[in-house]
Amino acid sequence: MITLARLLLLLLLFLVLFLSSSASKAASAVSQDEDSSSASSIISRFRQYLQINTAQPKPNYHEAADFLISQANSLSLESQVLEFVQGKPLVLLKWPGKKPALPSILLNSHTDVVPSEHHKWAHPPFDAHLDSATGNIYARGSQDMKCVGMQYLEAIRKLKASPSFRQPLRTVYLSFVPDEEIGGHPGAEMFAHSEVFQKMNVGVVLDEGLASPDDFYRVFYAERSPMWLVIKATGPPGHGAKLYDNSAMENLLKSIESIRRFRAAQFDLVKSGSRAEGEVISVNMAFLKAGTPSPTGFVMNLQPSEAQAGFDIRVPPAADHLSLEIRIAEEWAPSSRNMTFELGQFKQKASVYDKFGKPMLTAHDGSNPWWGLLEEAIKNANGKVGKPEIFPASTDARYFREQGLPAIGFSPMANTPILLHDHNEFLNKDEYLKGIDAYESIIKAFASFDERTSDDESKAEL
Ligand SMILES: *[C@@H]1O[C@H](CO)[C@@H](O)[C@H](O)[C@H]1NC(C)=O
Repeated sequence: MITLARLLLLLLLFLVLFLSSSASKAASAVSQDEDSSSASSIISRFRQYLQINTAQPKPNYHEAADFLISQANSLSLESQVLEFVQGKPLVLLKWPGKKPALPSILLNSHTDVVPSEHHKWAHPPFDAHLDSATGNIYARGSQDMKCVGMQYLEAIRKLKASPSFRQPLRTVYLSFVPDEEIGGHPGAEMFAHSEVFQKMNVGVVLDEGLASPDDFYRVFYAERSPMWLVIKATGPPGHGAKLYDNSAMENLLKSIESIRRFRAAQFDLVKSGSRAEGEVISVNMAFLKAGTPSPTGFVMNLQPSEAQAGFDIRVPPAADHLSLEIRIAEEWAPSSRNMTFELGQFKQKASVYDKFGKPMLTAHDGSNPWWGLLEEAIKNANGKVGKPEIFPASTDARYFREQGLPAIGFSPMANTPILLHDHNEFLNKDEYLKGIDAYESIIKAFASFDERTSDDESKAEL
């Protein structure tokens, strides 16, 4: 016979069992949370992303997209995959703001990396080897620019866990775009021209920068526009032993001498410290093509009737493009010397003006509130900011600047050698973690920024 007392005792026992099991569940959830925010799990997620082989020309984009979407899910971010070109997914994530009418923040990064010569690396480029003595993480993409893509996500993880923040005022978007390393057409370019992009009402874009060997982070407000120049000389062919004027080789060499003098003068400005690398016109010879092939190499006793040379030229936005083109036509490939030239634009037609006809520069003075916010936010995260620079090569930022948007190039890597596209590309794990703090501070500042309030405030001051 079951007495009332026994029944009560049984009930009590059940209650105790139930409570203790739910308590242990809660405890394990807490430890999981702590675990996902620990430095070791942050590093392990970075390494996981680095281990996905997204090297051109055959990037494993779908694996990268799956990984990024799983990250987005763990952060409760909205996600969608856009394919402007089949097989080239662009992952777009959204963290909705409390005031969705305000222009949004776009955090852009590319998912592809350049190829590597595996045998010249100390550690395989897709192992993401973490050197225990130095903390360096070796991988293709560790600097360019999988670091940045993951740092955005980790910064959001921190902000979501921070009781003083939790939700942005402005909507924050993250785009993980394909094919930056081969010109960005199916990625950032088509994205920036898309209807989806229009609807996002983007107010400011963050994109990649470069590592800095010293204490100061580098920030970029513009980039040089690339120009490919191929010059071609023709002249009468002749015996290898004959001295005569106007051979194709002689005519080409005169041009090369002239181009070399120009290059040296530009380089001297950099060497003397009077100009930064991004502020001069760089000219580098990319190929030389001449000679009459023979089974063992080239015919030696013959002066050829044609010779060509190709140059990679990078022009800063403020340079005088017209005078450069005159120089090319009159000195580097003059028709009077029987020379012709083609101005093959690198990758695509790179205009120096945005769609409103303004130079493609992001203002870095008081007229652009984002610039001040960025510098302030980096300082608040104990980072130092160098003086604004022009990016020496090309990035996807140009597609956003083309739309008239402010775009800032920034990859938080101080005290780091510049190894993008080089063998043994690495990033130190502590530097990576510091970069997350910088982004946490920047995203917080950007996403909380209410133009109307600050306008009102400045009016009140007047
Ligand atoms: C250009 O080509 C013409 C025709 O072959 C030739 O007569 C002339 O000498 C050449 N001039 C130079 C500067 O090479």
